[in-house]
Amino acid sequence: MRAEAGNRRDRLREMLADLKMPGALEAVDGILAQADSGAATAAEAIEQLLDAQIRLRNNRRLQTAMRSSRLPTVKTLGQFDFAFQPSIKREQIESLHELGFLERRENVIFLGPPGVGKTHLAISLAVAAAESGRRVYYGTLAGLIESLMDAKAAGDLSRRLRVLTHPALLVVDEIGYLPVSQDGAVLFFQLINARHERASTVLTSNKGFEDWGGVLGDEVMAAALIDRLLHHCHIVNIRGNSYRMREHRNLVRPASEQPRQGVAL
Ligand SMILES: Nc1ncnc2c1ncn2[C@@H]1O[C@H](COP(=O)(O)OP(=O)(O)O)[C@@H](O)[C@H]1O
Ligand SMILES: [Mg+2]
Repeated sequence: MRAEAGNRRDRLREMLADLKMPGALEAVDGILAQADSGAATAAEAIEQLLDAQIRLRNNRRLQTAMRSSRLPTVKTLGQFDFAFQPSIKREQIESLHELGFLERRENVIFLGPPGVGKTHLAISLAVAAAESGRRVYYGTLAGLIESLMDAKAAGDLSRRLRVLTHPALLVVDEIGYLPVSQDGAVLFFQLINARHERASTVLTSNKGFEDWGGVLGDEVMAAALIDRLLHHCHIVNIRGNSYRMREHRNLVRPASEQPRQGVAL
């Protein structure tokens, strides 16, 4: 019996190697030990085995995406503290992370003051999309416009626009922090126009739509841009305190609330 069980394990390992499932292969011995000891049911063991493989696959996809997507960092939904930002509807954010909006080529716009988690959530959507095997790309509005300007100067604008239209998800971060030149605004409009109804764009802004005309230096074009963006769009309006300031506030808490060995400021 024992020899048979040993043979079966060897065969299992061979099959996982043959199927190119290194994540499952690495986890299989531990999972079988748990199942043998009665700590896991057969269904739980199979679930854990497949889960180990899926996690490895997603991790590899994310690593590949990190090389080409220009994402500045990895942020995940799991790292987001919803209790700190009660104006955000948790179900809406969780449902967006299921990525149906990408299939429907809908846009997402995060609005709110600095530090409330706009970039965090835009990146966590991009990370989820990359883990699902989709192409993603990240840029700040200023960075994207600069790259379009460079391409235009080099006579390469249409190719650059095609490249930026290709990803299933494009993040346009930080609309509103820096003023945009008129040429820049036209190029941004062309980019959004090219992606409209073809692929999803996730945007963040510290300015309400009524101020986008000022940011882009052209009320009429801003209105046309907003019209396209809002055509199929999820708006997440975040009203709350800055998470960055929260860390700062902890430092300036009254001395009575400070830990004993802490520095009283
Ligand atoms: N609710 C939150 N839970 C956990 N971390 C948060 C939360 N909100 C913001 N952060 C973190 O605080 C920092 C600032 O958030 P960020 O998304 O850059 O803000 P914004 O883009 O709105 O200015 C980031 O490091 C981010 O990960
Ligand atoms: Mg930001």
